[in-house]
Amino acid sequence: MAAVELTELHKYFIMRHLREGDVAVDFTMGNGNDTLFLSRAVGEAGRVYAFDIQEEALDSTRKHLEENGAPNNYTLICASHHRVKEFVNEPIKAGMFNLGYLPRSGKKAVTTMRETTLPAVRAALELLCPDGVLIVAIYPGHEEGALEGEMLREYFSGLSRYRVCPSEFKILNSPTSPYFFLVEKSPRAIYGEI
Ligand SMILES: C[S@@+](CC[C@H](N)C(=O)[O-])C[C@H]1O[C@@H](n2cnc3c(N)ncnc32)[C@H](O)[C@@H]1O
Repeated sequence: MAAVELTELHKYFIMRHLREGDVAVDFTMGNGNDTLFLSRAVGEAGRVYAFDIQEEALDSTRKHLEENGAPNNYTLICASHHRVKEFVNEPIKAGMFNLGYLPRSGKKAVTTMRETTLPAVRAALELLCPDGVLIVAIYPGHEEGALEGEMLREYFSGLSRYRVCPSEFKILNSPTSPYFFLVEKSPRAIYGEI
């Protein structure tokens, strides 16, 4: 299975939870593919916040959204995703993390890092509404990506099963292929608690 098909699975799981008018966050905007998907999914009545630490990513995403006629419902933020609560003051229904570096930029050194990924994921879970969903895509083909995956597996495994249902989708005979975590918050969970 190719990575492109995994992204279809991300969308499938997100759409089991996300509705028009909802609020969503793209924690790693990159070239804006996930931002565009979320923007269309929540429509004019919804809101999408998207984060990246590179201005280049904001420029690329803005162009991608405009060229594809995205609804005017997005806020692009140049800041590290671990600062999400400084910018997002409302419950979110869905969050997407596509960890790693900006594709096609040639700047592989500017990648997501464990020190900020973990606080960002924790903040995302706190902001998530009951019945909300988080997707975290991991790229274990580079060292930091492999370590991020191990760190998050341990973190998710320790969360209360009464509040969240974390699962992992992985191609077993291709250990360096991308894989992802799906975290669904229980409809009975309490907002703010994880
Ligand atoms: C694999 S790309 C994301 C692809 C993107 N979702 C898309 O649809 O094109 C990962 C992005 O995360 C960004 N990034 C790295 N560290 C970050 C951080 N601390 N906070 C937010 N974004 C970060 C990188 O600059 C890069 O653009």
